[in-house]
Amino acid sequence: MKYKSQKVAYWFFGLCMLLFALQIIYGFIMGFARIGMDGLHDFIPFNTARAVHTNLLVVWLLTGFMGAAYYIIPEEAQRELISVKWAYVQLISLAVVGVLAIVGYHFNIWEGRKFLEIPRELDFLVVVNVLLFLGLILGTLFKAERRTTTALVLSMGLLFAALLYLPGMIWFDSQVTDSFFRWWVVHLWVEGVWELIMGGILSYLLIKLTGVDREVIEKWLYVIVGLTFLSGLLGTGHHYYYIGVNKIWLIVGGIFSALEPLAFLAMALFAVYMYRKGEKSHPNKIALFWTIGASIVSFIGAGLLGFAHTLPQTNIYTHGTLVTAMHGHYAFWGAYAMIVLAIISYALPNITGRKLYDSTRGHMAFWLSNIGMLGMTVAFGVAGVAQVYMERKMKMDFMDVQNEISIHFVVLLLCATLFTTGITLYILEFIKYGKPTDEALVKE
Ligand code: HEM
Ligand code: HEM
Ligand SMILES: [Fe+2]
Repeated sequence: MKYKSQKVAYWFFGLCMLLFALQIIYGFIMGFARIGMDGLHDFIPFNTARAVHTNLLVVWLLTGFMGAAYYIIPEEAQRELISVKWAYVQLISLAVVGVLAIVGYHFNIWEGRKFLEIPRELDFLVVVNVLLFLGLILGTLFKAERRTTTALVLSMGLLFAALLYLPGMIWFDSQVTDSFFRWWVVHLWVEGVWELIMGGILSYLLIKLTGVDREVIEKWLYVIVGLTFLSGLLGTGHHYYYIGVNKIWLIVGGIFSALEPLAFLAMALFAVYMYRKGEKSHPNKIALFWTIGASIVSFIGAGLLGFAHTLPQTNIYTHGTLVTAMHGHYAFWGAYAMIVLAIISYALPNITGRKLYDSTRGHMAFWLSNIGMLGMTVAFGVAGVAQVYMERKMKMDFMDVQNEISIHFVVLLLCATLFTTGITLYILEFIKYGKPTDEALVKE
């Protein structure tokens, strides 16, 4: 079944591609600055580039999640969105808030709280925007005859993500308290509610791509949701080790965060197992690659590389170094970037009516970006371990160490070029699909 209002998703995906491309540009600005080529320094110093790079990441992923919801919810609920016009209003206001924030950063209008740099005045606009989005999605579900587990998990994830944004908006004079609540947003997003969003999209894609019964797939989804909450909530403690709160968190954070990889392992097993079990072979192989890929790479990036520095005994050395950047890149890439690219690859042929899947360009996009990102992760990792050793073991000066490890950023830039070639191919493919058509979305 297809619904005309699913067309809205296309424009969210388009904005998503644009912001993704911009994010990569700021990554390069930082990479070059790291090897001494810092010509833009006066206008875009490293700290500005960093905030823009990470904020664009979060915004393009959220835009992708919203697009995914606008695509998936009508189909799961078996009805049109309650209002297409308001969905476009939401899209435009989202773009406006994003642009305002990013431009502001270049004029030093921001808060020095990593990942939550958006000034709190602007946060209110974010809230209005997200309320509008949730109103449309939950309203559609509310009016629907059918409410599937997949749709509920996806929208619960989106709703909780919105609620968890609020603790990050409260003003605290104490740095410790501020940091404590900052993690409610940053950690409980990526290691909690975003996992539900990922699980929901994954479940939808597996139902479509493998042909395995919904009942079977959704049973797994419950297990994943359970494992996520069991480990992720108290796992927040792995950010509380040395910030000045009660020492009980050393034990609680250590134990529960060590369990977090289980949820990602379950997702990887889930996807691979369903793929093998499935009898129907869907022609959209590219979407299948991204889907299975996301489940496996997220286990490596989030599960294994997260575990590598999550125990208090290791984190005391690695905290805030490039080891964190290594994990941050591969986890975000595997779990959230790849699942967004998966749903886009699946949705495009259906919205536009053009079946371009299985093209060489599409496969090249997948492999080049993945090999490039793996190389980047290794480069960050080697630089990070060297940094930990020199800075924290040999007690060398911070800046001297940064100088010593700059060679790894040459490698990083080479791998980033490979990565970017892959993403460029992906975006070219996106453009080639062209605009959505009403004919493509006629009810089957
Ligand atoms: C998809 C899921 C995940 C994503 C996107 C992700 C991403 C990130 C990012 C961006 C940071 C840096 C945050 C900051 O300093 O503000 C971080 C920190 C951290 N992550 Fe993850 N992560 C994920 C899952 C995990 C898991 C499952 C574990 C543990 C098993 C883990 C362990 C850690 C630890 C210990 C830190 C703190 C590093 C430090 O002290 O500097 N992460 N993560
Ligand atoms: C061509 C591509 C890219 C380059 C050259 C690049 C480079 C960088 C650099 C140099 C940093 C700062 C590390 C530091 O503090 O020294 C950074 C931070 C970060 N980047 Fe990228 N990046 C690229 C693409 C991406 C992509 C695609 C993602 C997500 C999927 C991503 C996610 C992040 C995150 C989460 C951080 C913050 C890490 C932390 O908190 O430690 N980057 N990037
Ligand atoms: Fe965390």
